[in-house]
Amino acid sequence: MEKPVVLLAEELSPATIDALGPDFEIRQTDGADRSQLLSAIADVDAILVRSATKVDAEAIAAAKRLKVIARAGVGLDNVDIKAATQAGVMVVNAPTSNIVSAAELTVGHILSLARNIPAANSALKNGEWKRSKYTGTELYEKKVGIIGLGRIGALIAARLQAFETQILAYDPYVTSARAAQLNVKLVSLDELLEQSDFITIHMPKTPETVGMIGNEAFDKMKDTAYVVNVARGGLIDEDALYSALKEGKIAGAAIDVFVKEPSTDLPIFGFDNVVVTPHLGASTDEAQEKAGISVAKSVRLALAGELVPDA
Ligand code: MLT
Repeated sequence: MEKPVVLLAEELSPATIDALGPDFEIRQTDGADRSQLLSAIADVDAILVRSATKVDAEAIAAAKRLKVIARAGVGLDNVDIKAATQAGVMVVNAPTSNIVSAAELTVGHILSLARNIPAANSALKNGEWKRSKYTGTELYEKKVGIIGLGRIGALIAARLQAFETQILAYDPYVTSARAAQLNVKLVSLDELLEQSDFITIHMPKTPETVGMIGNEAFDKMKDTAYVVNVARGGLIDEDALYSALKEGKIAGAAIDVFVKEPSTDLPIFGFDNVVVTPHLGASTDEAQEKAGISVAKSVRLALAGELVPDA
């Protein structure tokens, strides 16, 4: 009997293949290459992706026997869930697999900004011993504003409290009881923007959240504020960010995610007070192992016609 075919459209951890086991034919493709994707998806039963593969209506229409789309990560913004549902294709993800990694990268970015670590590192490696130029700021007693107090936001709050910061959060879906439990002060978005020394955004990418940090938001921030985006490209308007940096409306920014990925040459890369990483939030051995095993298990269950429990 022919084995069901599972297409790995991005580089996934070896644990993913181990967890799938011997019952499937495994194929690989580069999901970011559109023509490769459209031909490879045509005759597979399941596709596994991270964030670089757009499983949109066109890709779903090209898939003649697809039963499962599995996203080895948190967000589902690269999958057209409506088109999948209409085509009777199940969509699964691994919503808790990389939350610790994303939270830790956020804290790393906040510290990098506060202490100019990347800029000082580059300068010293280029032969410049500049101590006063890279004088930084402490986190102690600073206000950190978290936009989106979901799973990742809550982990960041817990970690930053060790630095004796005051955590403000904006999240219309979080109750004051939950905020109190996390020792976080819930505030309006405007209050958060106006008061925070560090602002970090952890919202899903939806039509409502795209561009939510734009010119108006930057106008409300302190000119000493630092902004971090480890969530999704486009939540912070990239042109508005560039203008805010150029005009000194904020002190700096750390950005891990971009409207267009990969992006290797954006205007904001030219600022010394900007720290960038290439969408590394989920890129740890632990997160990739957890994500891969989780979606592999879901794919096994789904292709066996069994119930896939909520992760
Ligand atoms: C996620 O949504 O979990 C991550 O962005 C996945 C990834 O790193 O590709």
